[in-house]
Amino acid sequence: MQDKTSSLRETFKELIGRVNSSEEIEKLRVEFLGKKGHIASLMSQLKTVPNEEKKAFGQSVNELKQKIEQQLAEAHEKIVKLEEQRQINAAEDYDVSLPMNIEMGSYHPITVIQREVEEIFRTMGFTIEDFSEIVDDYNCFEAVNIPKYHPARDMQDTYYLDNGQLLKTHTSAAQNSIMRKYGAPLRAVFPGRCFRNESTDACHENTFFQMEGIMIDEDISISNLIYFMKTMLSEVFGQDVTVRLRPGFFPFVEPGFELDIQCLICGGEGCPSCKNSGWLELCPCGMIHPNVLKYGGIDSEKYTGFAFGLGLTRLAMMKYGVKDIRVFNSGNLKALSQFIGK
Ligand code: DAH
Repeated sequence: MQDKTSSLRETFKELIGRVNSSEEIEKLRVEFLGKKGHIASLMSQLKTVPNEEKKAFGQSVNELKQKIEQQLAEAHEKIVKLEEQRQINAAEDYDVSLPMNIEMGSYHPITVIQREVEEIFRTMGFTIEDFSEIVDDYNCFEAVNIPKYHPARDMQDTYYLDNGQLLKTHTSAAQNSIMRKYGAPLRAVFPGRCFRNESTDACHENTFFQMEGIMIDEDISISNLIYFMKTMLSEVFGQDVTVRLRPGFFPFVEPGFELDIQCLICGGEGCPSCKNSGWLELCPCGMIHPNVLKYGGIDSEKYTGFAFGLGLTRLAMMKYGVKDIRVFNSGNLKALSQFIGK
C-alpha cells in the first residue's frame, strides 16, 4: 500500500514539472484531488488495508494530498505570472519603425480660421453666438433697415422657400435677435454660412462664410471700431497691419465704411495681389444705424455701437493664398486637407 502512495507521488512530481498553462493545472487537480481522482480512490482502498497498517496508510495519503495541494498552488501562481508576460509580449509584437497607414482627418480651412478669429474676440470680451441658416424676411432685411422695395435688396438675391422663409444672405440677419436676447451693453460675434443667388467664378460663390460682430455701449465711437479691427487683423496675420477706412454704403450702418488693409505682400507699393493699389478690401463696417438699435429694443439715445461683417471665406483666401473661391466647397481633399487645424 505504501508503494502505491509513493508511486503516485512520483507520477505527480513528473506531471507537475511539465505543466505549461492554468488549464493543465486544473486538469491535474481534478485528476488527483477530484471526487473520482487518485487520492479519492486511494482512500476508498483504506478498508482493504489490514488494521495495524490503517493509521500509517491514512497518514501517508493525507500527507500526499497536502503536498499535491501545495504544489498545485505554487505552480498556479507561477503560471499566472508567465501567462501575463506572454500576453504582454504578444501585444508588443509589432514593428514601431513601420510607417503609419492611417488616413488623418483635418479641419476645413474655413473652420480653422473661424476658430482662430473667435478666439481672438473671446479674449477681448465678446461672446460667440450661433444663428440659423433659414431666416425670415424681417430678420434678414427689415430689421437691419432694408425695407421692402429698397434697392439694397437687389445685391442680395437668395433662395426662397415655399413658406416665405429664405436662406440668409448675410450674418447681419442675426443682429436683431441677439440685441433682443441680451440688450445693451453688448459684445458679440456670430459666424455663419450665407447664401446668395450668384453665378460662380473664381471670386464668387453662392455659399460662403461671414463673421459678424457688434459692440454696443455708451460712447462707442469709430475709434473703438478701428482699434478692434486692427487688433483682430494683426493677430490673424501675425504682424502689425495698417488699415484705412473708405466710405461705403450699407443701410444698417451710418456712417458706413469699407475697411482696407495695406497689402502684406508688397507693403503698400503695389503688386499683382493687390491689383497694384497697395490696399486690400477686407471688412465692411460702420456705426450701427439708430433704426437698427431701435428695432432691436435698444435705446438709441443712450447707446451707440459698431458693427462689422468680416468675409471669412475671403480672409481664408488671403491668409492661405487660395486663388479660386470654389476650392472651399469642392470637397477636394487634396486641396482642403493641407490646412491641418487645431
Ligand atoms: N451684411 C453686409 C453684407 O453681407 C456686410 C456688412 C457691412 C456687415 C457693414 C456689417 C456692416 O455689420 O457694418 O454685404
